[in-house]
Amino acid sequence: TKPVTLPTLQNMRQKGEKITMLTSYDASFTALLDRCGVDTILIGDSLGMVCQGHNSTLPVTLQDVVYHTASVARGNRTAFILADLPFGTYGTPESAFANAVQLIQAGAQMVKLEGGAWLAPTVRFLTERAIPVCAHLGLTPQSVHQMGGYKVQGKTNQAAEQLKADALALQNAGAEMLVLEAIPATLAKEVTDMLTITTIGIGAGPDCSGQVLVLHDLLGVFPGHKARFVKNFMEGQTSIDAAVTAYVAAVKDGSFPAPEHCF
Ligand code: KIV
Ligand code: NA
Repeated sequence: TKPVTLPTLQNMRQKGEKITMLTSYDASFTALLDRCGVDTILIGDSLGMVCQGHNSTLPVTLQDVVYHTASVARGNRTAFILADLPFGTYGTPESAFANAVQLIQAGAQMVKLEGGAWLAPTVRFLTERAIPVCAHLGLTPQSVHQMGGYKVQGKTNQAAEQLKADALALQNAGAEMLVLEAIPATLAKEVTDMLTITTIGIGAGPDCSGQVLVLHDLLGVFPGHKARFVKNFMEGQTSIDAAVTAYVAAVKDGSFPAPEHCF
């Protein structure tokens, strides 16, 4: 199979083929995900919670993500690889660029950052310098102290309008992908229909261009609180390969997420 690239993903969106994404943090799981046909792999700063045992993503450093990105890249053959810029590493366009370069040099093909229109100049700065950018709106875990916990976002009319304006500003600045986390399914559909770039949902309903889950949540090995949008795909399966294959099939045929996973 041919490597997945940004044009591949854009083509999938246009044809209505759902894009699959999972997080991964090491070479062995990455090789497994790649073998099972997962289109895109995210080295998420969720590694702070699932690998390091922190109760938020805030303690994760750039060097942590660089380390895991290099491991993932060594295990990968064809999946498209994105890495998170951790908390505090993209406060200015210049710092974002210097830090994103490290992630790209470790093997990422795109970097992800959390936040709205205030990031448009940063997204522009990166994309002008050949670094593809994925934006992340809705429940943005790096803002946990401002949100006052991990809560569904975009529920009021005003918040929904703000999110739509942010999404447009980020697309106009050159972002080529947008993660939407924990927002009403109707709002995620509106945003997806309004944009031309790919949207990847987690707790954002079935109408995004694709779906993402944290690997440990999919496998049912994360001891923390289980969010409404999580499904343990190990249930009824006898191997990790089978669970990942079931996730890919469920996203592709639209059966995941089901209404019980949505807001
Ligand atoms: O860090 C992460 O795993 C993420 C995904 C849940 C989108 O940002
Ligand atoms: Na993240």
